[in-house]
Amino acid sequence: MNYRDTMNINAAGHLQIGGADCVELAEKYGTPLYVMDEEYIRSVCRAFKSTIEETYGSGNMAYASKAFSCKAIYNVMKEEGACIDVVSGGEIFTAASVGFDMGKAFFHGNNKTDGELELAMRAGVGTIVVDASDDAERIDAFARRFGKVQDVLVRVNPGVEAHTHSYIQTAKVDSKFGFSVKSGAATEAIKDVLSRKNLRFTGLHCHIGSQIFDRSAFALAVDVMTDYIAQLGALGISVDTLDLGGGFGVHYTEEDPKYNVKEYCEYVSLLTRTLCDCVERKGIKKPYFVIEPGRAVVGEAGITLYTVGAVKDIPGVRKYVAIDGGMTDNIRPALYEAKYEAVLANRAAEEAQEVVTIAGKCCESGDIIIKDIALPRAKRGDLLAVFTTGAYCYSMASNYNRNAVPPVVFVRGGKSGYAIRPQTYEDIARLDEIPQTE
Ligand SMILES: Cc1ncc(COP(=O)(O)O)c(C=O)c1O
Repeated sequence: MNYRDTMNINAAGHLQIGGADCVELAEKYGTPLYVMDEEYIRSVCRAFKSTIEETYGSGNMAYASKAFSCKAIYNVMKEEGACIDVVSGGEIFTAASVGFDMGKAFFHGNNKTDGELELAMRAGVGTIVVDASDDAERIDAFARRFGKVQDVLVRVNPGVEAHTHSYIQTAKVDSKFGFSVKSGAATEAIKDVLSRKNLRFTGLHCHIGSQIFDRSAFALAVDVMTDYIAQLGALGISVDTLDLGGGFGVHYTEEDPKYNVKEYCEYVSLLTRTLCDCVERKGIKKPYFVIEPGRAVVGEAGITLYTVGAVKDIPGVRKYVAIDGGMTDNIRPALYEAKYEAVLANRAAEEAQEVVTIAGKCCESGDIIIKDIALPRAKRGDLLAVFTTGAYCYSMASNYNRNAVPPVVFVRGGKSGYAIRPQTYEDIARLDEIPQTE
């Protein structure tokens, strides 16, 4: 088992995260429970930020808060001096509510509603990313109404698509995000922005995929984007900011490389080196450099603790170990066959004895959290810890079957506290009405 930087096994044989004993956390807060190591989150932020500053100079990281969004995480970003990426009115509202400097927010979305644009204006969102054919017109109209000139980036599709361990170069125009560079749609969108009085074109954004370990994919994206910046320069269009999006990979299973904070620094410095080289070779102005990691910041910081319940052995077929959560707190395995590792947190030092399947409690046969994992013989009452659940688990949680979304606790230096309190059944039913239709 490949324990994350945040974890160890203590003298009692219990899994420990951020200095806190998982068995004690489960006793104190109950299960299912999301646990996030705050120090790990901060250390990854610092690594990304300081590497950009030291190896490049002008730039920042913008935490992609779709990965995990709540007041506590925006507060951490505020304290760490990071920018944020927000994609909805809800994320804007939550970030603004903790006093995050919204001038450091990048607002994305392929279909921003009027309500969201109005909220973005009121909150003072620094940069809005143009990503739809009528975005420029609509953002310009809102900016005029609010008597301001709004900074915008244009999201482009560079024709580099990366996923996990490989990438492809494509001229694909079939994407709901971004304007194709190749087809000329991107340049048209930029010209549209430049023609509007209440918009200021600040630069380009692209996002080439997720869970990327192949560094050459990012290097290629830098090359393509700087070619495009040079091309725009020839048209007299200046690009101040280059935002390369997110997608840095994290370790879910043995199939994935395991990056520590130092390796993320190397990952980012390769990008900044490539960018410096391209800037020099192509004779373009050095842009302000932004990356938008989400998963890499919070993914490995998080685990989910569950209590083992029913164990169902189908001889010669499969043994199911059921837990008190499932697809409602982690939809990723059901949604795209995401793979996870886990241990029995109360017996973490014990050798594995059998291969089992971890089943969730929802009324869906597809509610399987881990298929075929080697564990000690699990029994009712054991505590299962699933690793790397900090990203896209809480943020995608649902109340399917009217299950409550588990609470989130942050741990740091052995101390713990709620980042998100437990949802009660009253909370779930609070907005329900019996419609008076007669
Ligand atoms: C525009 C943009 N930026 C950043 C991210 C964050 O990606 P990740 O969490 O893989 O780093 C995404 C993810 O979908 C995205 O669409």
